[in-house]
Amino acid sequence: MKKYGITVAGGGSTFTPGIILMLMDNLDRFPIRSIKLYDNDKNRQEKIGKAFSIYMRENHEDIEFIYTTDPKEAFSDIDFVMAQIRVGKYEMRSHDEKIPPKHGVIGQETCGPGGIAYGLRSIGGVLEVLDYMEKYSPDAWMLNYSNPAAIVAEATRRLRPNSKILNICDMPIDLMYKMADMVGKNSWKDLDVSYFGLNHFGWWTEIYDHDGNDLMPKIKEHVSKNGFYDGVGTNQHVDESWIETFTKAKDVYAVDPSTIPNTYLKYYLYPDFVMEHTDINHTRVDEVREGREKEVFELCDKIIENNTAKGIKLEADAHASYIVDLAAALAENTKETFLLIVPNDGAISNFDPTAMVEIPCIVGKNGYKKICQGQIPRFQKGLMEEQVAVEKLAVEAWIEHSYQKLWQALTLSKTVPSAKVAKEILDDLLEANKDFWPELN
Ligand code: NAD
Ligand code: G6P
Ligand code: MN
Repeated sequence: MKKYGITVAGGGSTFTPGIILMLMDNLDRFPIRSIKLYDNDKNRQEKIGKAFSIYMRENHEDIEFIYTTDPKEAFSDIDFVMAQIRVGKYEMRSHDEKIPPKHGVIGQETCGPGGIAYGLRSIGGVLEVLDYMEKYSPDAWMLNYSNPAAIVAEATRRLRPNSKILNICDMPIDLMYKMADMVGKNSWKDLDVSYFGLNHFGWWTEIYDHDGNDLMPKIKEHVSKNGFYDGVGTNQHVDESWIETFTKAKDVYAVDPSTIPNTYLKYYLYPDFVMEHTDINHTRVDEVREGREKEVFELCDKIIENNTAKGIKLEADAHASYIVDLAAALAENTKETFLLIVPNDGAISNFDPTAMVEIPCIVGKNGYKKICQGQIPRFQKGLMEEQVAVEKLAVEAWIEHSYQKLWQALTLSKTVPSAKVAKEILDDLLEANKDFWPELN
């Protein structure tokens, strides 16, 4: 079996240790010859880089491991880029989450005005990484899960239509693990699903087991009572705010009991509930910094201090094995099915062909083949028409440096009550993002 070279872009990410360990756990089906961490923030990446140099030296001496801020070194001689960058880091996420609530609007890193603000920061960063990959390793694939994936995907569709990039999200994976558990199965891979939507904005319409038995009735019964709350999923979304989101899915489901919704629809369908449960001084980013970020960097400190990773409890990010599945599908032609964010082009027959939609795709050596989802119902179509226009306007605003289009994007978002409020939020976001957004005219 061929051995692959991997670059993790956003090497300083809180998810990097889990990704490295997960890759090491799966060497039997996805052999690796090199792992390179790349970040544009030397200091943030350094601790993770140093700690995992020690770990790799002790456990996988045969695999080359480096960390660098030099694009040429990072992107030469590789087969895959796994991209998890956060342009502006947690400092800017904090503004995304805290500015809109000052105006009575939900603050979320990927939904509503916060998601739009993050989108205008992310587009340039993701294109930069993609361009480095194409310059130094033109045959490589980029697996992108940098957020906000919907806006990033629309930007790459517009600006790099021929690039080898797949945009993917892990929310459906965790929810499918939970649904599998509800029906006594072990893995999301035990479910055959039909699903349509946009990223963080989708619905399951059919769920069968591999023998063709309909699992929807049992899953619906469950979700109608408890949402996703008591389904056992991965160990990724366990904090208090996630429990609230999984519980609230029950009310999201009630709006259309013929489908099973993605949890993120909570922000669009119950913004009043979200606002009532928002503490403007302590949002999700604070929870992450006090939890995941602190734990990850303390762990690295300990490895560096001891100059060994022995005796330190290290956990692979099991949920992230879908990324190996995806890479293996491309490399080894496994033809597994994934929910990817891809150009619609008829897959949802009554929806904008130029929209980037989240639908099941079969992945193999030559990329993906979409599975048609046919016509979608009026309720979802109405919501998606509005949301896809928001995402497209945001990308057009970035390309054209247009204040007007960005104002329209915010105004159109279901989370924003009026053009007046949209402008007030926009002007605050603009001030906070001046080092990251293109200059707007
Ligand atoms: P983080 O801030 O800990 O890490 C992001 C890293 O990216 C930082 O070290 C930062 O310096 C680096 N970075 C920023 N701009 C860069 C650039 N232009 N080039 C190279 N590196 C750059 O963030 P995190 O919470 O660990 O999340 C990382 C990313 O993964 C986020 O975009 C997050 O939304 C995304 N994510 C997505 C999914 C999904 O389902 N799609 C799941 C989990 C995380
Ligand atoms: C889910 C979403 C991701 C998002 C993450 C947020 O997995 O699918 O797109 O990045 O949650 O997690 P956090 O713990 O940073 O709030
Ligand atoms: Mn996601």
